[in-house]
Amino acid sequence: MKQATIGFIGAGGFISGYHLLSARDCGNMRIRAIADINEETLKRHQQNLPLDYVTTDYHELLKDEKIDIIIIGTKHDLHARLIIESLDAGKWVFCEKPMAQNNTEALAVIEACKRNPGKLAIGFNRRFAPAYRDLKKLIQSVKKPWYFYYRQMCPYGGKSSFYNDQPHILYEGTHILDLACWLFDELPVRVNMSGDNNNNSVNLEFSDGSQFMLMCGVLGSYAYWKEHLEFCAENHAVNISDMVDMRVRGWKGEYDRLFSPYLDEKKEEVLKYGFDFYDCLRSELIYRQTDFLKQCGIEMEHVRRPGTMPLPYNIDDYDKSNPDLQIFFPDKGWRQSLVHFADCFLNGREPENASGTDGAISTELAMALLDSMKKGQRTEFRSEFK
Ligand SMILES: NC(=O)c1ccc[n+]([C@@H]2O[C@H](COP(=O)([O-])OP(=O)(O)OC[C@H]3O[C@@H](n4cnc5c(N)ncnc54)[C@H](O)[C@@H]3O)[C@@H](O)[C@H]2O)c1
Repeated sequence: MKQATIGFIGAGGFISGYHLLSARDCGNMRIRAIADINEETLKRHQQNLPLDYVTTDYHELLKDEKIDIIIIGTKHDLHARLIIESLDAGKWVFCEKPMAQNNTEALAVIEACKRNPGKLAIGFNRRFAPAYRDLKKLIQSVKKPWYFYYRQMCPYGGKSSFYNDQPHILYEGTHILDLACWLFDELPVRVNMSGDNNNNSVNLEFSDGSQFMLMCGVLGSYAYWKEHLEFCAENHAVNISDMVDMRVRGWKGEYDRLFSPYLDEKKEEVLKYGFDFYDCLRSELIYRQTDFLKQCGIEMEHVRRPGTMPLPYNIDDYDKSNPDLQIFFPDKGWRQSLVHFADCFLNGREPENASGTDGAISTELAMALLDSMKKGQRTEFRSEFK
């Protein structure tokens, strides 16, 4: 099998648990090198992963002719700069979200995309989540206007102080702003946001009267699943809980479905026992991370659903079943988005990932929403990138 050679710049918490494992396990990639300024992190990766070298200087990776794709996993203050340098060094680039901190940075990235042949993908992985791909296909035939409601809420636990002053709508909400544009295949014409730096109520209005409403932030409970989507249109409705449980109403011959969790963990049980099982097991496993919860000052409880007790699983078996997973995640398309990008590199195809333009638009939308919140009014939106 052909393999794309990968170099990572920044391999901290998220990259260690996701993209590094995908690059290690998926066959169409080979990890050549990791650059990180944290030497402990480098030592750990060098001990645990098959790779050629590690370095504290990412420039070594940019000069390395054997590296095809650079994966950028630093926090977002460095994303735009590292993307530009990597594209200018002749690489294909996969960068975690958000792509840029403001419109000036976004424009500079777009310029770099134009002057280089290498492709850029932004880690808006929900475009690859099986439940959302299914949803997108399903709603194509439905008459507009479409109304969406989306909740993306999760308490702060464990986030570093880096995020204290960062607008949540930029570093987290852009995931969903991109999802909205992808589901509609067009951009909103008016936007509105209220709330504060951390918690927001967002409204995106489309030219045909469709709306996408988003509640996002750091409120809620760890014992509650993070994401929920509802779709309503004439005589049609869909409801998706955590990308696992999908209820489909109004389509003749279409029925509710369940999607397997990330890496097919406990797939059989989830498909057999349904979303209550997923919800209870997920919460139970977080509940058992006592040190983490104590450190974050988070209260957790056992989730108990009527009719499901005792839980039909043995937690001890689960703990040992996959050493790469501490808890239980929905399949948000992380692995598929990276495997697809590597595959496109190997076969010279145009990737379906969120592009530089999509990355720029999501930052631009976040900026427009922050502006609308500051002014206390809904504002017209026209992208300078499309
Ligand atoms: N797609 C998703 O679902 C998802 C989920 C979580 C996080 N993320 C994104 O992943 C990125 C990383 O988040 P994280 O929580 O893992 O952060 P982290 O702080 O744990 O990791 C960042 C790493 O970058 C390294 N780094 C910093 N400056 C560097 C430099 N100049 N050269 C090389 N390495 C450098 C740090 O030492 C650290 O190891 C963020 O952009 C975040 O938004 C995406």
